[in-house]
Amino acid sequence: MSQQTQTLTIDGKELEFTPGETILEVARRNGIDIPTLCHLKRTAPTGACRMCVVEVQGGRALVASCAMPAAPRMVVATESEKVIEARKLILQLLLASGNHNCLVKGSDGKSYDDYLARLRKAGGNVQPCPAWGGCRLQELAWRYGVTGGRFSPTPPRYPIEDVNPFIVRDFGRCILCGRCVQACNEIQVNQAIHFGYRGAKAKIIAAGDRPYRESDCVFCGECVQACPTGALTEKDARNAARPGETRRVRTTCAYCGVGCQQDLHVKDNRIVKVTGVEGAKPNLGSLCVKGRFGFDFVSSPERLTRPLIREGDSFREASWEEALDLAARRLTAIKEKSGPESLGVLSSARITNEENYVAQKFARAVLETNHIDHCARL
Ligand code: FES
Repeated sequence: MSQQTQTLTIDGKELEFTPGETILEVARRNGIDIPTLCHLKRTAPTGACRMCVVEVQGGRALVASCAMPAAPRMVVATESEKVIEARKLILQLLLASGNHNCLVKGSDGKSYDDYLARLRKAGGNVQPCPAWGGCRLQELAWRYGVTGGRFSPTPPRYPIEDVNPFIVRDFGRCILCGRCVQACNEIQVNQAIHFGYRGAKAKIIAAGDRPYRESDCVFCGECVQACPTGALTEKDARNAARPGETRRVRTTCAYCGVGCQQDLHVKDNRIVKVTGVEGAKPNLGSLCVKGRFGFDFVSSPERLTRPLIREGDSFREASWEEALDLAARRLTAIKEKSGPESLGVLSSARITNEENYVAQKFARAVLETNHIDHCARL
């Protein structure tokens, strides 16, 4: 054990920690699952939701493990009776606040069809939640056997905002965990959204409570990825697929050479939405507006799928063999007639570093020219 390392006990296991680590961090590092809602990696803990409460021996009250530093000889219970009761109460209160219609009194159905049938039975114009099956609040309610209905629900106070092309804000499904605010202010440092109003009127607001598109929001979508419920969703994905209906395909973003790691959420061979890969370098889960929302071109019918050869003022389709043959013949002819310095290669800032590496190899080793550059618009 290094001089810096000390120990505490969590659920009967003696565990080492480094001063400064929280109880939650020590637990997670050792495979002990403490549930969280507001906790967001890479940001300062706020202790807002209290879902992560644990019992510390000798303590007067339960403590939020995401904010409480580990201390030597601390004895912690993460799933004691008191802890479970507290978590159930928190969940019941959250479910009663706003529109969380996925869990209604007396229902233990976990199938989507059952959910839709109950919505129809309830009547009115209640829309199904787009996050059904991928909502952290729902997942925890199932885990602790909690259904809504213990407290009278507070109806949603604010209408849905969907006046921008990318993000739908459904305030009725917001649990005010603050993860979106932290994602915007601490991770992307855009400072576009904040908590607004007080008490029952509390709301996440942008630019003095104006729509996203009239604010400093740059539509990076970091807030959407951080949202644990259906309060913030990608507009195009809302009706295209539910969580669980897509498969993830990991890839490298092709918009620039940074190499951001993305998960493509694919249904029926079409991209439904894109998320950043949490924890993977260089972007650690973050994306820009292009990387997250600019994927329509992939399935665009206007895309070139075959090489085109110019003939006069028009183009004709050709096979790859024919096109490559022609390019090789012409490049060789120019090189022989005017020398390699008469040739140049324009690569692109929108392809990967590896592809640009191959392009410069082609220029220098095959064409024998050092005229290689990229064009940001290609
Ligand atoms: Fe610790 Fe919310 S996760 S208080």
